[in-house]
Amino acid sequence: MKLARNFYRPLAIGAPEPYRELPVRLERMIHFVPPHIEKVRAKVPDLARDVDVVLGNLEDAIPLDAKEAAREGFIALAKATDFGQTGLWTRINALNSPWVLDDLTRIVAEVGNKLDVVMAPKIEGPWDIHYLDQLLAQLEAKHQVCKPILIHAILETAEGVKNVEAIAAASPRMHGMSLGPADLAASRAMKTTRVGGGHPDYKVVADPVEGQPRAIAQQDLWHYTIAKMVDACAANGLKAFYGPFGDFSDAEACEAQFRNAFLLGCAGAWTLHPSQIGIAKKVYSPDVAEVKFAKRILEAMPDGSGAVMLDGKMQDDATWKQAKVIVDLARIVAA
Ligand code: GLV
Ligand code: MG
Repeated sequence: MKLARNFYRPLAIGAPEPYRELPVRLERMIHFVPPHIEKVRAKVPDLARDVDVVLGNLEDAIPLDAKEAAREGFIALAKATDFGQTGLWTRINALNSPWVLDDLTRIVAEVGNKLDVVMAPKIEGPWDIHYLDQLLAQLEAKHQVCKPILIHAILETAEGVKNVEAIAAASPRMHGMSLGPADLAASRAMKTTRVGGGHPDYKVVADPVEGQPRAIAQQDLWHYTIAKMVDACAANGLKAFYGPFGDFSDAEACEAQFRNAFLLGCAGAWTLHPSQIGIAKKVYSPDVAEVKFAKRILEAMPDGSGAVMLDGKMQDDATWKQAKVIVDLARIVAA
């Protein structure tokens, strides 16, 4: 069964309204914060004015002895902050970890009505989503949560990549998916020690040309997985995201990685450092010249059909649809 995008059917008896349409939101950057650190929590109200999504991270990068403090810190920051239009997400611990049940039961009980999305790591198949879906339905019903809490899966194991289409179709509660390049690299036994981005040794060397230096082009390690994820998401009305970029000192490479994902169909990326917020904002908001040209296409073909020439380039029904994607995004950014 294919359900309309952004519609959710509560599964538990006693859950609020049967159908609910959720607004389309701008989610260019999912900004990660470690909620166990008080100094970080104090900055969240200002941060919430600057980013599209604030995510309280409970999983990897949170020390084992700070797991409870991170969970309680997230509840505290969620209660203390008016998020307005900014999304509030949390990344829970893995479904087979000792913390996840308390993560969900405490957070939905305390701030279920403020929480938009649960990001779930290391999702391997639709069974993981079914489990989460039922658990969230039970907790929503118990705590009178008025809007459905959505699920965002991290694609970061070889098994998950194998099952990506079934994961995307697993529940009307699915919001989208992010590529997790660090865990995926480990799961695939890739020979890297990085969080996303390229590798200088993953390259193509051009044939020798006498008298010229060999041309060498570094290749994109993530192209295949991003394309596969984008197709699975688009086919199910979900949003796809690039995940983390770990080299905070290399803004240029971060921008290139974000842009490749944007061009391939992603809606946003994770930002782990404040310096990456501006990069994501720039990359995931459409370019002014691109929007101008897209508007010209829409104007030249008012009913979206036929063929016209613009600046020597043929436009038809299909480019009209591409132009509409760009103009629609520009409208949401401007709103
Ligand atoms: C993110 O969680 C990753 O593993 O890259
Ligand atoms: Mg990971």
